[in-house]
Amino acid sequence: MSLDKTAYDDLPDGVLVVDAAGSVQLVNPAAARILATSADAVVGRDLRAVLPLVDEQNRDWWECSRPFDGLDTRTRQPERRLQVSAGPLQGRELLVTASYVRGADRRLQRVVLVLRDNRARERTDRSRADLVSTVAHELRSPLTSVKGFTATLLAKWDRFNDEQKQLMLQTVNADADRVTRLLTELLDVSRIDAGRLEMRKQVIDLPAAARKAVAGRVAGGEPEDRFVVRLDGELPEIWADPDKIDQVVGNLVENALRHGEGTVTVTVAPYDGGAEVLVEDEGEGIPPETAARVFTRFWRGNRGRGTGLGLYIVKGLVEAHGGSVEVGRAASGGARFRFVLPAGAAPYDA
Ligand SMILES: Nc1ncnc2c1ncn2[C@@H]1O[C@H](COP(=O)(O)OP(=O)(O)OP(=O)(O)O)[C@@H](O)[C@H]1O
Ligand SMILES: [Mg+2]
Repeated sequence: MSLDKTAYDDLPDGVLVVDAAGSVQLVNPAAARILATSADAVVGRDLRAVLPLVDEQNRDWWECSRPFDGLDTRTRQPERRLQVSAGPLQGRELLVTASYVRGADRRLQRVVLVLRDNRARERTDRSRADLVSTVAHELRSPLTSVKGFTATLLAKWDRFNDEQKQLMLQTVNADADRVTRLLTELLDVSRIDAGRLEMRKQVIDLPAAARKAVAGRVAGGEPEDRFVVRLDGELPEIWADPDKIDQVVGNLVENALRHGEGTVTVTVAPYDGGAEVLVEDEGEGIPPETAARVFTRFWRGNRGRGTGLGLYIVKGLVEAHGGSVEVGRAASGGARFRFVLPAGAAPYDA
C-alpha cells in the first residue's frame, strides 16, 4: 500500500489508517498527540488494542460498527462521540469519524479514521451549562423577593401602614432594578462571547469620560471630595466607541466605590501612541493571587451584592478596542485598575 504520508502530517485532526485485517498502517502526528503515543509504538498493532472504544451504552465500539467484517456496502461512519475504555487514556472522550475504502469488488482495502479530542468542546459545553445555572440562580433571589412582597401586599393590604408598604415597594423596586441590570449585563456578555459587539468609533474625549463617570456618582449622592480626576500629559487623538468607554470607566469607578475605600483617583495619560486610564482607590486592594480571576465571569469577592460580570465586560469591551486591562496595587495600597487603548483608526482607514 502506498500512502502519501506527508499529506497527513500537517492535518490538525488525528488520522489513523488501518488495513483490511485491522492492523494500523499509519498514524499522523496529530493522532499520536491525541493518543499520547508515538507512531512507532502503534504501527503494525491491531486497531482494537491500540484504541479500545466504547459508545454511550458502554458497548464495544468495534463490535458494534464492525468495520472489518460488516456490511460490504458501508463506506463511512459519521462522527460519533466515543470513550476510550482502557489504557492510560481511559475515560477520555474522542470524536471519531471513519471512511471504509473499498475496491471495485467492494472488498475492504483500508479504514481511515479521523480522531478529534473532545476536551475543548466539553469545556465550552460545561461553561455554558455553568452559565445557565448561575444565571437561573442570580435571577431567582430577586424574583423570589418581588413575588413574596407583592403577594403579601395583595393579600394583606389593609394590615400594613403606609411606611411599611413603602418599605416593601422600595425593596420590590430595587430587586426589579437588579433583574434588569443582570439581564443587560448578560446581553453584553453574550455579545462579547459571540464576537458581535457593534463598535461605533469616533474621536473621544477620555478626560471628559472620566469626569462624567464621577459626576454621575456625585449626583447619586457620593461626596465630591472622594474623587480626583487627573490628566497627565497631552493625549493623541483617540478613536473609540464613546458609550463603551463610558461603560468601562463607569464600571471601574463603581467598583472602586463599592469594593474599595477612600479617595478614588482617575488618571488619564498618553501611553505608547494611545492612552492609558488608571482607576485607583485606597481600600484593601486585590491580592496578586486573585488578580487573574477578577476578570472571569461571575467571579466576585465576598463583599457586596454584585453579580461578578462587571470586570468580565470591562475586559471584553477594552479588548474589542484592541486594548488591554490589568489590575495591580496602587501606591496607597488599594486596587489599581489600568486599561490601555491604542489610538485606534478612523473607521474609513480601518
Ligand atoms: N476596586 C476594588 N477593590 C477591591 N476589590 C475589587 C475592586 N474591584 C473589583 N474587586 C473585586 O473583584 C470582584 C469582581 O468585580 P466585578 O466588577 O466583576 O463584579 P461585581 O462588582 O462583584 O459585580 P457587578 O457585575 O455588579 O460589577 C468583586 O466582587 C470584588 O471582590
Ligand atoms: Mg463591578
